[in-house]
Amino acid sequence: MPVQLLDGRVVLSHPKGASLEVLLFGATVTSWKAGSHRDPQPSERLFLSSKAVLDGSKPVRGGIPIVFPCFGPPVHPEHSRLPQHGFARSELWKFDSVVMDNDAGVSVRLTLEPTPEIAAKYNRPFHLAYVLTLAEHQLSAALHVTNTSTSADFPTDNLEFQALFHTYILAPAGQVLISPLQNVRYYDKTAAAEEDRNLARVESRLGVDVLKFTDSVYEDAPQKYDVTWPGGGLEIKTNALKDVVIWNPQRDAGSRMADMEHAGWERFVCVEPGYVRGFAKAEPGKTWIGQQVLSVIQEERRIT
Ligand code: BG6
Repeated sequence: MPVQLLDGRVVLSHPKGASLEVLLFGATVTSWKAGSHRDPQPSERLFLSSKAVLDGSKPVRGGIPIVFPCFGPPVHPEHSRLPQHGFARSELWKFDSVVMDNDAGVSVRLTLEPTPEIAAKYNRPFHLAYVLTLAEHQLSAALHVTNTSTSADFPTDNLEFQALFHTYILAPAGQVLISPLQNVRYYDKTAAAEEDRNLARVESRLGVDVLKFTDSVYEDAPQKYDVTWPGGGLEIKTNALKDVVIWNPQRDAGSRMADMEHAGWERFVCVEPGYVRGFAKAEPGKTWIGQQVLSVIQEERRIT
């Protein structure tokens, strides 16, 4: 069965062996298994903390949570009643349809519409759809944000939002490098003083590492990244996601997270493509689509 609807989750299986699991809670991808060109045996590509809470009582620590409509604590007045990273990762989505089911890809669509509970904290005319497509060595995740307003009352009915894929890549944090971010402007959220956090810096490194506590927001980044380590790697391509966050809490912050497994920070890097500096916009009746495509890197393409 290429697509199975199980209790609270959807499982996709590709004829060549790749698989994907997504929870309806938060539309959170919790597992993506794919083989590489060198080793066709599918293996896990995402980190999921063994202490992650999967019962819907809090966002999932690992996999790919969706950040929408605010990144971090809300700053837009329309988001003021929302928690850090918004509500999409904490709501129950609906399975909508199988979009595609053939050798090229297995694809499903999940949706989230306003409920009275969401409207109480975010009373905006939105509809979200999430299309996940699994190919032999590739996973595509596309978030469709539709402004459902029929009013022509510009610009008050515009949707202004931030969106990000909080992708936990299973990788040895001590060896992973992310490139090409050299010369890209970034903001260091680990800085103690607010003025230092707001300071625009310029990345000098050819390959960015996460050897220390890292929480960097790269602005107007290249939208195509190599995440590599000895013996492995992923390529990330994005559309409409101009920024990227590199995050690893290391022991400092990681050991204070109740749902982080022991030394879990040694086993992942978060490379999070998003639109998080400023706000993306959708006018009434229009749909904005942000997409990331993760591909297993072929051995000869590694930069390390
Ligand atoms: C990252 C942020 O995207 O998410 C960090 O840049 C934050 O500042 C991290 O700590 C984890 O957030 P949360 O809400 O999942 O613990």
